[in-house]
Amino acid sequence: MSNAHEPSANVSPDDVVVLRSVKKDFDEQQVLKGIDLVARRNETVVLIGGSGAGKTTLLRLIVALDRPTSGQILIEGEDIAVLPDRELNRIRKKFGMVYQYAALLDSINVLDNVAFPLVEHTKLSKSEINDRVMEKLEILGLDPKVVARKFPAELSGGMRKRVGLARALMLEPPILVYDEPTSGLDPLTSRMVDDLIEQMREKFNVTSLVISHDIASCFRIAHQAILLIDGRVEASGTPDELLEGPSTIAREFIRNSGVDVRALSRVKPRGLNQKRRTTA
Ligand SMILES: Nc1ncnc2c1ncn2[C@@H]1O[C@H](COP(=O)(O)OP(=O)(O)OP(=O)(O)O)[C@@H](O)[C@H]1O
Ligand SMILES: [Mg+2]
Repeated sequence: MSNAHEPSANVSPDDVVVLRSVKKDFDEQQVLKGIDLVARRNETVVLIGGSGAGKTTLLRLIVALDRPTSGQILIEGEDIAVLPDRELNRIRKKFGMVYQYAALLDSINVLDNVAFPLVEHTKLSKSEINDRVMEKLEILGLDPKVVARKFPAELSGGMRKRVGLARALMLEPPILVYDEPTSGLDPLTSRMVDDLIEQMREKFNVTSLVISHDIASCFRIAHQAILLIDGRVEASGTPDELLEGPSTIAREFIRNSGVDVRALSRVKPRGLNQKRRTTA
């Protein structure tokens, strides 16, 4: 068995998340059947696939909320599959998580919601925390003075997403994780969320892992799309490579979404600091 404290062989510092032959069983059911994946710095990886394919299970393993049955999960070069429980909190802090309905606490105001990670994980003073919250709200295009004292129920869906993102960014994590960020949102708000995901990547150079049922969103934001079918990677590459590649299942999956992908904008290849093409 490999030792967690040994430096991991063959991992470039650019490879922020690396999975090797990751399997996960629940009782008799094999949910993940050997997943290999690399997500690099400043890259957006979108996981697509039908219901029950194993996407959320995979994400939970990556953020150290659960353990694989076998295989390696390297986060910034460190194999977390073999780390003792007491070390996992340190790993979890590397991830900012944005949930489907923003998952804000309804009984406390925006300021306290966004401050939560800092209160939990740092020893910063109240006024320092306050300043940082205000700064993040502003970065996300919210007027801090207006929004900070409001309660989640008083915000629109798009504003809640921004607040959820502000909270995910509080500890300035190298990796942002989104589980179905656009589900339940109207097309316009969905596009706004796509733009936010892209802006956060540009501004903070984060690696973004996104689970999505939204093919349009996948085409707009993904440098790498990974199609999971029944616990295996059926196809991976840019969305266009999936659309035009050898996997019939991948081509059908995209076609069956009914989305006219020709009309959608694409992100520029990662690393090229150019403006996005702007169509649709
Ligand atoms: N804690 C658990 N215990 C037992 N089975 C589980 C557990 N978590 C997930 N599963 C099973 O693993 C399979 C994959 O579930 P998962 O939630 O990862 O799918 P998904 O791809 O995220 O689906 P969806 O698109 O519907 O969210 C399902 O058959 C599910 O019942
Ligand atoms: Mg899921």
